[in-house]
Amino acid sequence: MHNFHYQEDLLYCEDVPLERIAKEYGTPCYIYSYATLVRHFRAFDRAFDSVPHIVAFAMKANSNLAILRLMASEGSGADIASGGELYRALNAGIPPHKIVFAGVGKTRAEIRYALESNILMFNVESSGELYTINDVAAELGRHARVALRINPDIDPKTHPYISTGLKKSKFGISANRALEEFRLASSLPNIEVVGVHKHIGSQVTQVTPFVDALKKILALIESLQAQGIHLRYINIGGGLGITYSDETPPHPQELADAISPLVRDLKCELITEPGRVIVGNAGILLTRVLYTKKTEDKRFLIVDAAMNDLIRPSLYDAHHDIWVGHRHSNVPNHTVDVVGPVCESGDFMAKDRLMPETQSGDLLAVMSAGAYAFTMASNYNSRPRVPEILVKDGQSFLIRDRESYQDLVRGEHVPEFLSPGGKGTTE
Ligand code: LLP
Repeated sequence: MHNFHYQEDLLYCEDVPLERIAKEYGTPCYIYSYATLVRHFRAFDRAFDSVPHIVAFAMKANSNLAILRLMASEGSGADIASGGELYRALNAGIPPHKIVFAGVGKTRAEIRYALESNILMFNVESSGELYTINDVAAELGRHARVALRINPDIDPKTHPYISTGLKKSKFGISANRALEEFRLASSLPNIEVVGVHKHIGSQVTQVTPFVDALKKILALIESLQAQGIHLRYINIGGGLGITYSDETPPHPQELADAISPLVRDLKCELITEPGRVIVGNAGILLTRVLYTKKTEDKRFLIVDAAMNDLIRPSLYDAHHDIWVGHRHSNVPNHTVDVVGPVCESGDFMAKDRLMPETQSGDLLAVMSAGAYAFTMASNYNSRPRVPEILVKDGQSFLIRDRESYQDLVRGEHVPEFLSPGGKGTTE
C-alpha cells in the first residue's frame, strides 16, 4: 500500500530512515515516497486501460511542482480549481490538452488565462458562468470547450464537508435542469459543448455511489443524443477513498471494472480526477515531541507540528494514524492527546489515542498526509510553512524549502503614515 515501514524498529521511508531526514531538514516536514506515488498513479491509470481515458490528477490534493512533474512524466493531466493551479500545472509540464477546470466561481481573469493556455475544457457549474465564458471567449476570438457539471443528487456517504453531489450542495447543475442548460450552452456562439462532468464527493469508500451517479449521467447522455447533442467526453470526477484507519475502500480496479463496461460503447473518452487515492498514503508529516504534559485529567504530547500544518483533524475530525519513529518493546501505552503549539483548543493531531510512551525529542509520523495536508497549510500564528521532501532510491530531495521569518512578511507594506516619523505617528 505504501513505503513507510519499520526496519529494526526504526521507521523508514523506502530505504531512508526518518531520523536521517529529520536531522538533515529539521522537523516538522512532509515526506513523500516516490515509489508509492508512481505505483498508485499507475495502478489507477492502468485500471482504466480497457477504455480510452485521461487521468486528470486533482492537484488540490497535492500541488508541489515536483509531484506534478512526476505526474506529468507518468502521463497525467490535471483537474484544476483556480488560476494558481493552472500556473503550477503548466509550470510542471502538464500538457494543456489534459487540463480540466472545475469550480463554481471562476473569475474572468482565470477564464481568460485558461483560454489563452488552450486547456482541454471548463467544467461549468452554472448558466451565469456559461455566459461569462462565452463572453471572454468572444473577446479573445476563441471557442471555449466546456462540459457541464451535473449534480446527480447522490449521497456519497462521506463527511458532509466533502460531499459535493447532493442537491443542496453549491456544486453543479441539477439533473432536472441539465437538458435546458445543455441547450443554452449549444446555442452560445463561442461555446463548444464537448462533455459532461460529475463529482460526488471525496473519501468515498464504496463503488455503488459512483455507479449510481454514472447511471444518472448516462440517462442524460441518451436524452442529449435524442436532441442531436453528441458528447466526446464523460468525466466521472474523483473521490475514491483511502485507508486512514480501518476503512476498506475498493481498489481502483474494482471501480474501473464497475465503470468501464458502462461507458465502453459511448464513443466518449473517459476522464477521471483522482487526488487522494494517488497521493494520500504516499506522504507523512514528520514531527517531534516537544513536551509531554500530564494534567489531572489528561496526558498530552505536545509536538512541533500544528493545525496550520495539517488541518484535517481540526476541520473534519479526521483520523490520521500516528506512528512512532523508534519502536521500543516493553514500554507502557497511554491514552494521549497529540497537540500542537497553536493557541486553539482545536489544534490537535489526535485525541484520546492509545500511544506507546514517548519522550521529549522522539519522532512521530502522522500518516496518510500526502493529500490535503500541505495544500491546506497556512501561516496561522505566524508559523512558517514546513519543507517538503521526496524520497527516491535511498536519497532524499528537498522539494520545498522551509519558509523563513522573512517569507512570512513578504509582500506586506506599512503605509508611510504609520512609519516612524510619518504623519500617523503620535510624535
Ligand atoms: N474533482 C473535483 C471536481 C473535486 O472537487 C475534487 C475534490 C476531486 C476531483 C478530487 O477528489 P479526491 O479524489 O481527492 O477525493 N479537503 C478535503 C477534501 C476536499 C476535496 C475537494 N474536491 C479533505 O481533506 O478531505
